[in-house]
Amino acid sequence: MAQEDLFKKLVSHCKEYGFVFPSSEIYDGLAAVYDYGQNGVELKNNIKKYWWDSMVLLHENIVGLDSSIFMHPTIWKASGHIDAFNDPLIDNKDSKKRYRADVLVEDQIAKYDDKINKEVAKAAKKFGDAFDEKKFRATNPRILEHISKRDALHECYKKAMNDNDLNELRQIIIDEGIVCPISGTKNWTDVRQFNLMFSTEMGSTSEGSMKVYLRPETAQGIFVNFLNVQKTGRMKIPFGIAQIGKAFRNEIVARQFIFRMREFEQMEMQFFVRPGTEMEWFKKWKENRMRWHQNLGFGADCYRFHDHEKLAHYANAATDIEYLMPFGFKEVEGIHSRTDFDLSQHEKFSGKSIKYFDAELNKSYTPYDIETSIGVDRMFLSVICAAYHEEILENGETRVVMKFPPALAPVKLAVLPLVKKDGLPEKACEIIDDLKFHFHCQYEEKDSIGKRYRRQDAIGTPYCVTVDHDTLKDNTVTLRDRDTMKQERVAIDKLNDIIAERVSITSLLKKL
Ligand code: GAP
Repeated sequence: MAQEDLFKKLVSHCKEYGFVFPSSEIYDGLAAVYDYGQNGVELKNNIKKYWWDSMVLLHENIVGLDSSIFMHPTIWKASGHIDAFNDPLIDNKDSKKRYRADVLVEDQIAKYDDKINKEVAKAAKKFGDAFDEKKFRATNPRILEHISKRDALHECYKKAMNDNDLNELRQIIIDEGIVCPISGTKNWTDVRQFNLMFSTEMGSTSEGSMKVYLRPETAQGIFVNFLNVQKTGRMKIPFGIAQIGKAFRNEIVARQFIFRMREFEQMEMQFFVRPGTEMEWFKKWKENRMRWHQNLGFGADCYRFHDHEKLAHYANAATDIEYLMPFGFKEVEGIHSRTDFDLSQHEKFSGKSIKYFDAELNKSYTPYDIETSIGVDRMFLSVICAAYHEEILENGETRVVMKFPPALAPVKLAVLPLVKKDGLPEKACEIIDDLKFHFHCQYEEKDSIGKRYRRQDAIGTPYCVTVDHDTLKDNTVTLRDRDTMKQERVAIDKLNDIIAERVSITSLLKKL
């Protein structure tokens, strides 16, 4: 199946089975804003719990925080967001569509890569086992031409971005002959900077009002609470503060479903360390975070690091963890060594000392910070992409099954009476009444057992219990495994132990 078709299927599956709905749908929606349905919210909560517990439960020296979305506006001056949290935008005068100029150029670079990969694939097919890919890439004239064009473009682009040269960025778009996908023309406006923060007014007009921002990242809430947490928690360096919360960005081009949203959620952890030790911690957190992703069992090939060439002004090292989405490897998480930039800036702008006294060294300093920052929604999307499977069954039917890691599945167990009579529904409800305190169960009695299995497969329920007439005699049920579809007969009083062991976040955390 073409990856584009797969992605369309995923989006409609998410809607059909109550994972994700477009926001304000009955009013025709609101661009790049989404709501999570009954299954989506459970999956999202499980992802958040996996992250939170892996940080706060498993590390004695990491504590949580829940700071507010509105913060004093000077915070955004200090952090650099008011002056520099911009994207370069360009409009097509014919279609009136707006684009990110940097994304247009990056897409063009990707086109050269596509051409190169296509040439390689064609040659591999032609030459079979005798194909030497390394040699082909190094000598084939067409490949060399594409590489040379791509590298030249990449150099110009890098320079334009580093120099913040918007005229040059426009010139690259013109020189490359990049056209608007809607109008097909090259009738472009100048490139302008566009600040991504949403603002609103706080306070009534009679008192005077203040312009405040909806936070574009949760990180600043951690930095401005550094001393509160450190002092009240008697935290010793190295230590971390973790937070999960909403963030808002007025993205120019919001694309690819929940990949780029205007309202989204972040899970961020700032780890404060002694100056000079930050590279060692950066490496440790890189490894730790990759392990967390790979622990879900989707396969190591789905992930890669992308080290940043161009570092933000506050960072001395940065990498992304990318996941292979149907539209290519894309950033899911960023890991940054942010130096002492943020704490120093808040010290400067607030006029309050934000220093840490290190008793072992007998001196005060501004700690350095390693940040791990992951988008809940992007993580959700990667889990949905990895879990979605279409399988042809022996009878020729297709089953769609979401192979979520059991600990993340929205519903852990469905309890299904074989028929809607003879006391089987009552027995099924009895089982749920006992198990519902331990994990999320669902009762279903409508339709044939086969159809009910299919519905549970589609939402990724790892186990189905069927209550039949034998159950009433011997207190045993059939336990069906989602992935293998194999069934085993188990005693009702063993269900809790069997399932809890397989579906708990604890068992996932223990594998870390
Ligand atoms: N505090 C650092 C920070 O915010 P970022 O790379 O801008 O860094 C971190 O964002 C993560 O937040 C990204 O890796 C991504 O998962 C998520 N994210 C950023 N913008 C997003 C958007 N518009 N929609 C969904 N997720 C987004």
